[in-house]
Amino acid sequence: MSEKFNVPSELPRYPRSMWRTVTTLPTFPELKEEIKVDAAVIGAGIAGVTTAYLLALEGYKVALVDASEILSGTTGFTTAKISAQHGLIYSELLSNFRPEIPKSYYEANIEGLRFIREMVETHGIDCDFKEETSYLYTNQEDKLDDLRKEFDAYQELGIPGQWHESLPIPVDAIGAISMPGQAQFNPIKYLKFLVEKFIENGGLIYENTTIEGAVYGKPIKAYTIDAELQINCNEMIVTTHYPFWNVPAGYFSRLNVERSYALVVKPETTFHGGMYLNIDDEKRSLRSATFEGEEVLIVGGENHVPGKSDNTFDHYLELEKFAGKTFGSREIPFRWSAQDITTLDKIPYIGPLSADYPFAFIATGFNKWGMTNGTFAGLLLRDNVLRRSNPHMDTFNPGRFNDKSISQNIATGFKMAKELITGKFAGAHEKVDRLEPDQGGVVRYKGKKVGAYRDPKGELFLVDTTCTHMGCETAWNDAERSWDCPCHGSRFSYTGEVLEGPATDPLKRIEE
Ligand code: FES
Repeated sequence: MSEKFNVPSELPRYPRSMWRTVTTLPTFPELKEEIKVDAAVIGAGIAGVTTAYLLALEGYKVALVDASEILSGTTGFTTAKISAQHGLIYSELLSNFRPEIPKSYYEANIEGLRFIREMVETHGIDCDFKEETSYLYTNQEDKLDDLRKEFDAYQELGIPGQWHESLPIPVDAIGAISMPGQAQFNPIKYLKFLVEKFIENGGLIYENTTIEGAVYGKPIKAYTIDAELQINCNEMIVTTHYPFWNVPAGYFSRLNVERSYALVVKPETTFHGGMYLNIDDEKRSLRSATFEGEEVLIVGGENHVPGKSDNTFDHYLELEKFAGKTFGSREIPFRWSAQDITTLDKIPYIGPLSADYPFAFIATGFNKWGMTNGTFAGLLLRDNVLRRSNPHMDTFNPGRFNDKSISQNIATGFKMAKELITGKFAGAHEKVDRLEPDQGGVVRYKGKKVGAYRDPKGELFLVDTTCTHMGCETAWNDAERSWDCPCHGSRFSYTGEVLEGPATDPLKRIEE
């Protein structure tokens, strides 16, 4: 069981997205009847909204469906850097593929950036879009070679970049690579514009509508939980962050999930611009933004596998320490965490679900870089649906395989088997009556091991901690008050409701 939840005074008690707080989004109804459309887009994050908008412009009748509210998943909880500088990606891709592949990955991400910039400029979208230089840096001697290799990859691939021995901000670094001409914005303000245009072009949006599966005929029938309702569509595009099905194509064994944390800090010192990411053991990400008319900093980092942190609140504390030490901190108006998905070779899966299902498409695995990868996904999915050629189709094709992905696939299978075994046998050390208000964990209750959370008013919520996706054991996340699964990242509220898939069914409630 975790330590008692104890919020330091500077940190907000509950997680909240700044982007969603400062932007009022329209609301949409649940699906209440069977409908027929040209295309159904399942999942209303940046990839889904962009795809739906682009297809509606092409004259398609499109339904955009989300299990919760639109833009309430990772897109609402991002640091919102629009950048093609993605850690050590280019040296890694160069070591696994011929140079055309990393080149294509770079160009696709620049295309995503260009599309956002053109939309903002053409339509005058008020979304705090600002061009910035992006920096990748290290302050660890043992990482310097990796950073130099990344810079060599820039040279080999013709990616604009410069080497530096220090940073223009008071953060220690012994080496850095700058990439000019990248950008930052408020993604929710930007995507709100696309949503409005989508509706103007005849688009339909349904919120709080969970699609659980599909029958792949002509048309495809995408059905809701317990097959109560269905959407009949000629094309189905799944942009649900994590795909909601286990078969076909076995995506659950080809994706890795990581959580990370962010704070919004009102600094005591002036920030001299730029967007920053390190490659060190303690991950740190930085950019500025505007909140209530003043400059704030978004400080991110502290990655870990879901369900694999003893005290998730500590990650916020580490970021708070870093921000306070580096820039001074007058106030922390927001904290949030997010979940990111990475494919086995770090290149997103964007394209046909599998060779057998040519009218179903998928986009997932944006490798923490959803603003550019997600926007590019919209462009590529549109071209897939229109059967239009696109020079990057093969690079992002979900059906690609190489030796590395096969061996990692096997490793992922072992990881899940280990979680299934160790999770089942992990003990529960505390009795339920020891739980204090606003505390949760796995406890012993009537001789059984159960998940328990006592809310601030003292009400007790008991759940079976077995994940409803494929049976791994979920773990208590004290900072978000959720049950998180280490196998594929499903998350559940303390009442058992699904917060993030791939699970679609809630945790089983246990009555007192
Ligand atoms: Fe797959 Fe839990 S077993 S997310």
